[in-house]
Amino acid sequence: MKKRILELLTGGGILVDPAAVDMLCTLPDPIGCVKHILKDPDNRPLILSKEDVEQYAHCVSEKTIAEPRKVSEPKKKMAAAETTVKKHEVIVVRDITGDSTCVGNVIDFAKLFNDRYSTIRKMLYRRRELAGIISISRAKKVQRDIKIVGMVNEIRTTKNGHTLLELEDEADKIQILIMKGSRKIREAFLKDEVIGVIGSFSKDGEIIIAKEIIRPDVPMNSAMIPNGSDSVIAFVSDIHVGSDTFLPEKWNRFLEWLNKDPSAKKIRYMVMPGDLVDGIGIYPGQEDELLIEDVFAQYEALSKLIEPIPDWIKIVMMPGNHDAVRLAEPQPALSKEIQNIFDSRVMFAGNPCYLEIEGRSILAYHGRSMDDFIASVPSLSYSAPLDAMKEMLKRRHLAPVYGERTAIAPEQKDYMIIDRVPNIFVTGHVHSCGVSEYRGIKLINASTWQSQTEFQRMHNVVPDPARVPMINLGTGESWIEDFSY
Ligand SMILES: [Fe+2]
Repeated sequence: MKKRILELLTGGGILVDPAAVDMLCTLPDPIGCVKHILKDPDNRPLILSKEDVEQYAHCVSEKTIAEPRKVSEPKKKMAAAETTVKKHEVIVVRDITGDSTCVGNVIDFAKLFNDRYSTIRKMLYRRRELAGIISISRAKKVQRDIKIVGMVNEIRTTKNGHTLLELEDEADKIQILIMKGSRKIREAFLKDEVIGVIGSFSKDGEIIIAKEIIRPDVPMNSAMIPNGSDSVIAFVSDIHVGSDTFLPEKWNRFLEWLNKDPSAKKIRYMVMPGDLVDGIGIYPGQEDELLIEDVFAQYEALSKLIEPIPDWIKIVMMPGNHDAVRLAEPQPALSKEIQNIFDSRVMFAGNPCYLEIEGRSILAYHGRSMDDFIASVPSLSYSAPLDAMKEMLKRRHLAPVYGERTAIAPEQKDYMIIDRVPNIFVTGHVHSCGVSEYRGIKLINASTWQSQTEFQRMHNVVPDPARVPMINLGTGESWIEDFSY
């Protein structure tokens, strides 16, 4: 077996650590794992280590022995044969619902950040550019060209306009200098993101001068391969039922189109990524802008509003920062009390969640962290949320910044890590609308059904309401239907 593994890997241009071969031999399907590594040209390492094998074995087992559940049903372990996606079935592959363990103490936060660091470090270990990573304490001893991985603790700008980062790994910290005008390092940094650094020590040996910053990123070849499906998925976000700025005429126009237009017949699924209702007590003075002042009555009104949606369309509802669940992310699905307001074709998932529909993987996130991305990265703005989504994919994290606008719950596992590469990534929250693509992944920002609020007017945010992005799950073709006229 060892000989066969070595032949395959070296034939594929990968050098192998003997411990990695031993590890491969302990797996239930060593050759399957080797083939998986060889089929991953963008991420596979130059020298395969035991840690790489652990990471790939994890990916392979996740693909074959996932623990999916149908939304709104109790979680149960399923055998591999049962996980085959049936036509017209929606599966929640992962969310926090029912799995929250956090109490909110310091130990919980330490576990959360350790999980983030170790998971993203494994992704960075697989980058060819970072072959030969060493720890920060080892780097301090060798004092030569180094490659390290760490979490960004602090970001400062020096009086000369250079950027100074404090980078931390499990055991040590070091200052990283990014020279102003560096040709290779143009992107902004976020607090608490995990990055790889290639650099060399300054003459006094105190800081590392960065030559290159490596982010985990997604593979180049993530495009949807046609699968024969003719189903269409529609994305309907930020409905804000209960607000006096909800747009009933435009909603009714959408309903009429769904029921009368022949092209709407292909819509089989509708994903609603949060802010289903306007909620209560979300911001000071909100009561003056509410038509419905009881949150349960808001969900009841939503239930009536979705009644005319044709019954062949399955609906997945997720919470956002206006909905009646905890504000801290990851958010669980809406409570049973609220779920009972809706009929059985409505399914409920947490925020964020990974869905699987007709063989397509969908990462759905309301998008609260876009506030932090836009505040921290000068090139981003509320009018171009798809760019913020690309930044999330590059960092393989939905909400890296802790302690700013996005409340984070200290779960033992970091549910905000993008540890699976989706086919489709959808957000809402910013009330914009757009469809784009990043390395083959379809990006959707899913509009709103609310006109400009007083708060948005004060902050010069112009919404783009009553538009519905759609994707054909078979071909990957995407477009936007407009009901705003
Ligand atoms: Fe919203």
